[in-house]
Amino acid sequence: MGSYGMLARRAIQTETPVMVQIQELIRGAKDAMSLAQGVVYWQPPKQALEKVKELVWDPSVSRYGADEGIPELREALIKKLHHENKLCKSSVMVTAGANQAFVNIVLTLCDAGDSVVMFAPYYFNAYMSFQMTGVTDILVGPGNPKTLHPDADWLERTLLETKPTPKLVTVVNPGNPSGTYIPEPLLMRISDLCRDAGCWLVVDNTYEYFMYDGLKHSCVEGNHIVNIFSFSKAYGMMGWRVGYIAYPSEVEGFEALLLKIQDNIPICASIISQRLALHSLEVGPEWVTEQVKGLIKNRTLVLEALSPLGEDAVKGGEGAIYLWAKLPDKYLDDFEVVRWLAWKHGVVVIPGSACGCQGHVRISFGGLLEGDCRLAAVRLRRGLEELVKDGMVH
Ligand SMILES: Cc1ncc(COP(=O)(O)O)c(C=O)c1O
Repeated sequence: MGSYGMLARRAIQTETPVMVQIQELIRGAKDAMSLAQGVVYWQPPKQALEKVKELVWDPSVSRYGADEGIPELREALIKKLHHENKLCKSSVMVTAGANQAFVNIVLTLCDAGDSVVMFAPYYFNAYMSFQMTGVTDILVGPGNPKTLHPDADWLERTLLETKPTPKLVTVVNPGNPSGTYIPEPLLMRISDLCRDAGCWLVVDNTYEYFMYDGLKHSCVEGNHIVNIFSFSKAYGMMGWRVGYIAYPSEVEGFEALLLKIQDNIPICASIISQRLALHSLEVGPEWVTEQVKGLIKNRTLVLEALSPLGEDAVKGGEGAIYLWAKLPDKYLDDFEVVRWLAWKHGVVVIPGSACGCQGHVRISFGGLLEGDCRLAAVRLRRGLEELVKDGMVH
């Protein structure tokens, strides 16, 4: 019964999730090691896990909670936003991860047919969130060819020239897929451009603690700005699904609309997960920073593995858990290279075409302990040496 023609065009015209394709590839390629998925290798803080273990019998964790999040967690997050992010005029909604937070925000701020702005290379799930909600006029701006920083001059022109004015601009800081950090003056300029044009700025801060080489992450705040955060990577809580939105308290109606969306998707984030998030916050950001320090070695290993591509080919990695690399010119079909690396060399990375940049790859250095990362890096180096020297020999 039925046919393809009966399915929603919005969903049909949404990209296929690259991670689902990559998971299939990993399952199919025997013993392949993954430098693909954006995950960290650690679990949540032990003390926090011990505390939630006791909670499974508490009837409150089996009931629905407040749509916007349990009060104790929201209170702790307001304090955290104030002290760590210097966000003092923001309200908080807890969500089932940062991806759900982003969908909530798109549904709250955009109508089908609106235009929106992203920068290449972009975060694939944000792109798909626009597509599947009917926001298909996605203007993709360039990054600076050297630094990959969003091109603010292009943004200025685009916001002036595009009629009607784009509804929303979004950036990820530090970036997925590039690991590029947006310096504070640039972030402020982007914010000013958005404010002056009357358009929203949505900043995804999923990797706020993942900064290297002495760089410091910062946030911007304003009545045209929404900040998104996640517990997934920082506290090793990917499967617990907790993120949150910091939105401007002063904008009339924002909270009421957000609640409409929330009440129809998760109702509330999982209560036991919110409890774990609260206990993890009590352990504190120093714990996260300690874990992140452990990734520096992994980054070095992966950087070395990418050296056959040449120094100019490798970019990003000042933050987050990613490096971004350009393949030799003739390999525009990056998915073919990704499949070849998996089958022939037993190592998996993400094709850049999923992020709007064909002929590139994203490499994640967060998911493996140092020993395994070293093994994966050896395979990657061997594969890239062969690719550069002899091509994709099967
Ligand atoms: C930039 C960015 N935003 C959001 C997410 C999704 O995070 P969550 O697990 O909190 O939904 C990720 C995960 O990779 C990410 O890299």
